[in-house]
Parts: sequence; C-alpha cells; structure tokens
Amino acid sequence: MVDRSVKLVDSQQGKEIELPVYEPTLGRPVIDIASLPKEAGYFTHDPGFGVTSSCESKITFIDGGEGKLLYRGYSIEDVSENLNYLDTAYLLYHGEVPTKEQSEAYTQKIKYYRLLNERVHHFFDGFYYDAHPMAMMTGLVGSLAAFYPDAIDINDEKMREITSLRLIAKMPMIAAAIYRHYKGYPVIYPEHNEGYTESFLRLMFERPGQDYEPDPLAAKALDLLFILHADHEQNASTSTVRLAGSTGTNPYAAISAGIASLWGPAHGGANEAVLNMLDEIGSVENIPKFIEKAKDKQDPFKLMGFGHRVYRNYDPRAKIIQSICYEILERYGDDPRMELAMKLEEAALKDDYFIERKLYPNVDFYSGIIYSALGIPVNMFTVMFAIARTSGWVAHWNEMVSDGYRIGRPRQLYTGNNIRKL
Ligand code: SDX
Repeated sequence: MVDRSVKLVDSQQGKEIELPVYEPTLGRPVIDIASLPKEAGYFTHDPGFGVTSSCESKITFIDGGEGKLLYRGYSIEDVSENLNYLDTAYLLYHGEVPTKEQSEAYTQKIKYYRLLNERVHHFFDGFYYDAHPMAMMTGLVGSLAAFYPDAIDINDEKMREITSLRLIAKMPMIAAAIYRHYKGYPVIYPEHNEGYTESFLRLMFERPGQDYEPDPLAAKALDLLFILHADHEQNASTSTVRLAGSTGTNPYAAISAGIASLWGPAHGGANEAVLNMLDEIGSVENIPKFIEKAKDKQDPFKLMGFGHRVYRNYDPRAKIIQSICYEILERYGDDPRMELAMKLEEAALKDDYFIERKLYPNVDFYSGIIYSALGIPVNMFTVMFAIARTSGWVAHWNEMVSDGYRIGRPRQLYTGNNIRKL
C-alpha cells in the first residue's frame, strides 16, 4: 500500500520524520500522518476537513479542477445517459453495472421492500401538517431502527444488503407520505408495474376519485435528477453517515443522521434556498444588488447554488440539469425564475469576485426549477435530494463496514482555560 514517503523536518526538535505516501488511482496522493503523535508529538489541525482524506473509497471520484465526476469509474454523463436510477444505485453498491437479469431482480426486490409498516403512519398524528418535511423525514427514517432491530447485525453482509434495499425502497414512500400529510390526502399504496419514479409521482399526486397517469417525461426528469444526486464522495452528509456508522449504530439511525446533515442550506438545503433566493431577488434589475450582498463579508448572504468545496469549475451535474430544464419548462409552462437564474449565473460568472474564487453553479442551482415545474413544493426539495442520496449513503456505509473500520474520533486544538481550582 505504501508507494513512497515524504520527510517532515522539525527544526525545533532537530528531528526528521518519514511519513508514508499513498498513490490513488486518480487525484492527489495522500500523506499518512498516523505516526506523527508517536514520532514527533503532534496532532494535525484541519477545520472543515479541507485537505484531509478520512477514508479509502472505491465508489466515486471528483476532479474538481476539470469539473468531472465518476461513479465507479464511469463519467456522470455516461451514467446519466445510459442507466436508470436503480441501476445506478446497484452500480454504486456492488461496483458493477447490473446485467439485465440482475437489474430485474434488483427492481423486484426494491418493490418487495418498499411498503412501510402501517404503524409508521401513526407518527404523523404527532406532526403538525406544515412541519418541515425534512424534520419529519429525519424522525421517520430514524424510527425505522425501531422496526428493524435485526439491522444492528451489521457484520452480516446479507443483512447489510437487505437494509440498503429497504432504505432505497422506502424513501419515496416516506417522502410521499410526508407530502400527503401536508395536503391532507389519504395514504395510498404503490401499483406493482410502475417504475421507481413513476410510482413516486403517483404516490405523491394521485387523489381519491381522480384518474392519475404519471407523465413519462416527468418520471424521466426525476430519474435523471436522482442519478445526478446519487453520490458525491465524502460530502458532509455521507461523512456523517460514515461517522455515525463507525460507532456500530443501527444503520437507520446513521442514515437519519445523514438526512439531518443534508438539510443544512450549505449542503442539500441549498436547492430550497435557491428558489427562495430567486423569489427574493424578484427581477433581473435587482441582480446587481444581490451580487454585491454576496460579496460583502459583513453580510451573511451567499449566492445559493453557487460554489463548492471540491469543484473549482462548473459542476458537471448542473450542466446536465440545465439541459433538461428546457424540456420540462416547454411541457409544464415557462417559469420566469429560469430566466432570472440564467441572468444571475451570467452576472456572477462575469464578476471578478466569483472569477477569482472559481465559484460556479453547483447541482442545486437549477434542480429546484424542475422540481417546482413538476409541482413539488419548495420545502420538499431537500427531501428529493435525500431520496436520491440514500443510494450513495448505503454504498458508503456498506463499504466502510465491509472494509473494516475504527470509530471516527477527531482530535482538537484546545484553547480553553488551563487547569484551575474552584
Ligand atoms: C452540495 O460536498 C459536496 O459534494 C456537496 C454536494 C453533494 O452532492 O453532496 O455537491 C451538494 O452541498 C452543493 C453545495 C450547496 N450549497 C450552496 O450552494 C450554498 C452556497 N455555497 C457556499 O456556502 C459554499 O460555496 C459551500 C458551502 C458550497 C462551500 O464552502 P467552502 O468550501 O467553505 O467555500 P470555499 O472555501 O470554496 O470559499 C472560498 C471563498 C470564500 O471567500 P474568501 O474567504 O476566500 O474571501 O468563496 C466565498 C467564500 O466566502 N464563497 C462564496 C460562495 N461560496 C463560497 N461567496 C459568495 N457566495 C457563495 N455561494
């Protein structure tokens, strides 16, 4: 595993410490610093984990400079053109694209595992109708730990697979139940022969006494969005799932922690924040004012849907989303926010502040416009992200457990009081 080493010179202690360097398949080499405390007495300090690799992984790779994203070695353009979401989920988890038979068997298993225990619906009695959907989703997914205590047997590979299938299968059911609680619609059950996203559309929008046929274009757009959001290396929510999972906790609880992490506006909550921001900007004349606000360090306002920890280039997912936006708006009617978003992007990409910092639109910048056109309320956008990211979360959790792991336990730079007496 050790490919070469680097020497760290500590002139104060007059010591040279040799640290192993590992070469990745793609990306920058990493220095293994595990021996530093013993050899030199230091810990390392990297708030926000800007330069720290937290694990070895074979699932996803981002080239931030070039704006490239790979799932198991396949480009996101290739995956989104040739696979559907469930095949993508299979690829992320198992490492290879499923054969036709494997794909059919996987889809059948997802259908088998999707029903929610009826008791789950009783939790809604305790939620206000307009509680934030992410608050309900965090609670409901965490509650699954109570229904599947056997999932705690995480060293059983079969049990891990069943847990992963259950989660991918049940997330759309939970999301739709949340929406129906908000609308006051009765719960409905899936039809057997519909695909993953068609079924989700029915579960959301079918009303008693009215015929509902999911629109294939809407199902295709959702499937594409799910593929694009499926995984993204060690992002905050995936790292949260790994950290929570590293204690050996029940996986439903670990995924619930990931959902909580995703909710924040700096992460998955940005899709909701983008549409709220566009509504606040209101019209093209106001764009310069909001660009100035985003640049003002005294103002907490940031251009939502812009910037990324890893991408220093256009997020390839945003480009793919932008292209399907037109198709959707043509079918569902124009949304003035699309033009506003494009003008905002144009203005930001011409501005020195954004150019110097290499800030480009990310995945969340255009996704909300599609969700909105499909009739999904703004406060459900991050729930949509969570449905899609579940495939990534379970793939990472499974990889971590099967590769062997230690509890995640960062150190700190303590700057509090020295020892004192009362
Ligand atoms: C997702 O990690 C992932 O992979 C996440 C994700 C996934 O699929 O899992 O891709 C999904 O979370 C997308 C990101 C969604 N969030 C937003 O759109 C919120 C707006 N963006 C920012 O808050 C910010 O860009 C982050 C949170 C995305 C990244 O934060 P970083 O890594 O701490 O930011 P940075 O170091 O790149 O910032 C460099 C500079 C700073 O200014 P200076 O201190 O150098 O003067 O750029 C500024 C930042 O203040 N900056 C912005 C900005 N984003 C960064 N300034 C104005 N508006 C912005 N959006």
